[in-house]
Amino acid sequence: MKLITVSGSLRKNSFNTRLADLMSQAAPEGVALEVLTLHGIPLYDGDLEESEGIPAAVEELRGRIKAADGLILVTPEYNAGIPGVLKNALDWLTRPGEEMKPTFGGRKTAIAGATPGAWGTAFAQAGALINLRQLGCELYPGYLRVSKASDQFDDEGADDKLREQVATWLEGFVSFVR
Ligand code: FNR
Repeated sequence: MKLITVSGSLRKNSFNTRLADLMSQAAPEGVALEVLTLHGIPLYDGDLEESEGIPAAVEELRGRIKAADGLILVTPEYNAGIPGVLKNALDWLTRPGEEMKPTFGGRKTAIAGATPGAWGTAFAQAGALINLRQLGCELYPGYLRVSKASDQFDDEGADDKLREQVATWLEGFVSFVR
C-alpha cells in the first residue's frame, strides 16, 4: 500500500512535517509512506492558469496523489483555519474543474495536525472537513490532534507517547484504506 502525506507547513523545523516523518517511521510492514511539502507552488491566479496552464509542481503533486491508495494532510492551524499554502494547493489541484473528481473523488483521506497550543489544530481540522467533503474525498473519521508539540518533539525526534499515538492512529487509517 502506498500512502502520501502532505505537510501544510513550509517551515524547515515544522512540527507538522516532523509529525509526517513520524508517520513514515511508524508505517506498518507493506505500507510505503511518502512525505511531501508544498514548496514551489505559486499562488492560484486565474490569469496564470490561462496563460501558462497548471504549474509543474501542482501536476507533480497530483500525480503522486493519484498514484497513492490514501492521502494524509498534516496541517498547522493558523487563526483557527488551515494555512493559506495548503488551501492554495487544494485549490490548484481542483483545476481544471474536470480534474477534481479523478484527483479527490472517493480518495481515502485523513487529516492530522500539530500545534504548540492546547487544542491540537481542532479548529483547522474541522474547517478542512468542509473543503475535503466538497472535493469528494472519503474521510477517515479518526482524529490525530497533537497539542503542546514543543513538549513532545525534541532534537532526537519525539517521545514514546507521541510515537505510540501516531502508530495507533496510522494503523487505523491503514485498515480504513484497506
Ligand atoms: C499560528 N499558530 C496557531 N496555533 C494554534 O494552535 N491555533 C491558531 O489559531 C494559530 N494561529 C496562528 C497564526 C499564524 C499566522 C501563525 C504563524 C501561527 C501557531 C502555530 O501552531 C505554530 O506556529 C506552529 O508551529 C505552526 O506549525 P509548524 O510550522 O510548526 O508545522
